[in-house]
Amino acid sequence: MRDVLAPLAASIPPESIWNQTRSFQERLPKVARMRSAYLGRRGGRAWARADATGLLAMLGSDSLRRLGELLTGRRLAPRIGRQVLCYGPGDYIGPHHDHHPDIPGARDGYLDIHISFVTPAVRRQLLVYAKDGHLTETVDVARNGLITAYRLPFWHYTTPLEAKRGREAEARRWVLLASYQFAD
Ligand SMILES: [Fe+2]
Repeated sequence: MRDVLAPLAASIPPESIWNQTRSFQERLPKVARMRSAYLGRRGGRAWARADATGLLAMLGSDSLRRLGELLTGRRLAPRIGRQVLCYGPGDYIGPHHDHHPDIPGARDGYLDIHISFVTPAVRRQLLVYAKDGHLTETVDVARNGLITAYRLPFWHYTTPLEAKRGREAEARRWVLLASYQFAD
């Protein structure tokens, strides 16, 4: 999939510092750097590749949906959101919460299931998330075959991917995402 992903980079706007007129008014927009492909609709190279490799079928499978239903104890809607991310050395996502108030079926929360694959050259990448209103929780998500489930929205970020020394060129963490809305 690597050659069909698009770079996704949103850097810190300089005006977030220099347009500020009073102290203690910091506002950080969602910043990130990685490569990704939204598999939202038919068409395009990423869709064709994901179809050919079986990725679309896997992320759309009944068994993955069933896993989500067992974890949440709720029925999930048939429609599914699919995406692929690839983090290289230093790639990250800044603090954000993934709330989608403008999407009717998602405005009260939804479920994401992520499957991670890392190359042996990856040392570490942390997911940091909020508990009781503070960004105190960390988990190393750079594990091969790791399956994680998220009841979104909540505040979180992903630290820059760290490669093993001298192995930056081979260090990648792939994330396969399936997003589900609740049926009830
Ligand atoms: Fe997120």
